[in-house]
Amino acid sequence: MLGRRRRGGPDLAGKVAIVTGGGSGIGAALTGALAAEGAQVACADIDLPAAQRVASSLLGGPGTVRAVRLDVTDGAAVQRVVDDVVAESGRLDLMFNNAGITWGGPTEMLTPEQWNAIIDVNIRGVVHGVAAAYPVMIEQRSGAIVNTASMGGLVAAGLITSYVMTKHAVVGLSLALRTEAAGHGVTVLAVCPSAVETPILDKGSVGGFVGRSYYLASQGSSTAYDADRLAQDTLAAIGRDQPLLVVPRRSRITWRIQRLAPGLTNRLAAQFIDRQRGQLRPEG
Ligand SMILES: NC(=O)c1ccc[n+]([C@@H]2O[C@H](COP(=O)([O-])OP(=O)(O)OC[C@H]3O[C@@H](n4cnc5c(N)ncnc54)[C@H](O)[C@@H]3O)[C@@H](O)[C@H]2O)c1
Repeated sequence: MLGRRRRGGPDLAGKVAIVTGGGSGIGAALTGALAAEGAQVACADIDLPAAQRVASSLLGGPGTVRAVRLDVTDGAAVQRVVDDVVAESGRLDLMFNNAGITWGGPTEMLTPEQWNAIIDVNIRGVVHGVAAAYPVMIEQRSGAIVNTASMGGLVAAGLITSYVMTKHAVVGLSLALRTEAAGHGVTVLAVCPSAVETPILDKGSVGGFVGRSYYLASQGSSTAYDADRLAQDTLAAIGRDQPLLVVPRRSRITWRIQRLAPGLTNRLAAQFIDRQRGQLRPEG
């Protein structure tokens, strides 16, 4: 476990962290939040210039941020980044397996390459991060593995079926590993937000799918959650040693209703998907 500071979150001054997908959105917000608390962060992204922009924006502390090019689908490369950080800093306190991609659209239109890509980034990418970081944390008898899953890792949502599959895998991995890791002094958290205001909302469209409007409609909201707020929530959840972070509150209620009335929520979800299917924009 990480030591606590007075406000309830973990004491992050001088802690050593890696954030995958740190060049944009939630990863950039996590990098900023960690640096603001005085952590030493490796901001790792397949898009090196994006990671460098995040690092440059945080020059001057209180923490330190180093940009690293990393493709999380390459297990050896993830291992190298972890090895380099441990060689340089002597430890690894926080591993944020956050890089992710999405596909939205009719499942029958997904190509084998698209299925493989989402499995490679969203599942294998997290597995690679765990495989590299967990032994280090077992050895030092402390550390936190934080996997960015999604509300889609807890509830079913059609038209983003491949994404939901990968995020359920991330939740399962996180919850199961957490029970093993506790005995080694290591904690595991799965972060499960609904729509967060990041570029991913407009990525991964298949067959005229409009991600942003789908995600907002699915949560009955006109705005997405703020990435910086999610980063703060995440640090607080680490401090409380939570297994899951589900935000916003409305989504916690949805999740609870689904568990209480699975048949009803499945029927409502099917009706929602029918309406959404009618809103696919034909590609010209
Ligand atoms: N934004 C949301 O609504 C939302 C909701 C729930 C969960 N998530 C999850 O949050 C995580 C971060 O997404 P985001 O919303 O910040 O999106 P984003 O697109 O803004 O950022 C994703 C980052 O991951 C990087 N990346 C993609 N493939 C990579 C790879 N192979 N190796 C290393 N880096 C790679 C991208 O370059 C990008 O910088 C993802 O796992 C996503 O599934 C997002």
